[in-house]
Amino acid sequence: MSTASIMNTYGERKLTFTKGEGCYLWDKQGNRYLDALSGIAVCGLGHAHPEVAQTIAEQASTLLHTSNLYLTDPGLELADNLCAETGMEKVFFSNSGAEANEAAIKIARKYGNDKGITKPVIITMDGSFHGRTMATLTATGNSKVKTGFTPLLEGFVHVPYDNIDELKAAATSDVVAVLVEPVQGEGGVNIPATDYLNQLRELCDQNDWLLMLDEIQTGNCRTGRHFAFQHNQIQPDVVTTAKGLGNGLPIGACMARGKAAEILVPGTHGSTYGGNPLVCQGALTVQKVLKRDRIDSKAMETGNYLLDSFNQAIGSSALVKEIRGMGMMIGIELTMDCPELVGKAADKGLLINVTAGSVIRLLPPLTLSKQQADDVAEIVSSLVNELEAQG
Ligand SMILES: Cc1ncc(COP(=O)(O)O)c(C=O)c1O
Repeated sequence: MSTASIMNTYGERKLTFTKGEGCYLWDKQGNRYLDALSGIAVCGLGHAHPEVAQTIAEQASTLLHTSNLYLTDPGLELADNLCAETGMEKVFFSNSGAEANEAAIKIARKYGNDKGITKPVIITMDGSFHGRTMATLTATGNSKVKTGFTPLLEGFVHVPYDNIDELKAAATSDVVAVLVEPVQGEGGVNIPATDYLNQLRELCDQNDWLLMLDEIQTGNCRTGRHFAFQHNQIQPDVVTTAKGLGNGLPIGACMARGKAAEILVPGTHGSTYGGNPLVCQGALTVQKVLKRDRIDSKAMETGNYLLDSFNQAIGSSALVKEIRGMGMMIGIELTMDCPELVGKAADKGLLINVTAGSVIRLLPPLTLSKQQADDVAEIVSSLVNELEAQG
């Protein structure tokens, strides 16, 4: 076996994993790694969660797929469950985060078209990440993902994140929606002012725009609330999520309420696999465990513990520009690019990510124990100290 037959979209990958359990992964050689990335904010409940695994096995031997020409109970139950949790009213199920955002973008465009705006504009943020499909990469506020893919789509305007005045200045009468991450993930774990979402809500209300939150990464207890917007006690018009929703099952959801909930009607959108009984039954168990085990509070507690540990260990390092986090979404911004830390951490048995060049991003399973948090903090801090010592 080699990588020769795999399209080279991910660059060199040195590790091949064969097994996971809880917060650990094992490679082909039998080495164990503490996973502080959880499949990029996906396996919030850790790997091979017994209840999720059992649900999947049972559902696979009962009913895997029917297409959306028919109803199945798991999809109905999961949609009810998500609406009850979020205050949203209708759900469209997709297979990924990008597709959930595609649904949101289509809602916004049709919302505009229905109002007679033929060239509707969606405002998105610099530094944002919304996916790799043509519409979502156009929405993304990072030129790297766009290079080589012109022509891009019309109808997106980018403004600085966490800046209401600049957003107001960019607004035209063609604007129909604002699409924003409550915390920017790929952009470097950027946390806006605490009332940013409230201000956006107000602005959207004043202008009849849809407030669309991309909670692909921040949803499902990652930031210490079930959904990040719940920190602000606002109600968005559209919320997308994926990643932690299925703990590894490919499922995404675009949720809408009020005027946004009625826009997509028969024939306007669809997916062959989206929300099939396997992924929905699995996601139902994930949601049940998140709720029952109060994983939101646990994520907040362990996240704060990690922040404290980092502040104590490397807070005064000359190399550390800022340590920031919300729940189990933690970023340590260095004063220099540090992509080599990913490999160095793996050599010490720890999986981390570096994003936006200089930000060490940690997205551990939300079930991380105190001891495991100590291990994460110790290894990452030692890497930063070693880098500093190298000058
Ligand atoms: C905020 C956000 N939106 C959208 C996406 C795209 O999700 P997917 O890779 O499942 O298409 C991601 C993935 O990292 C994300 O973090």
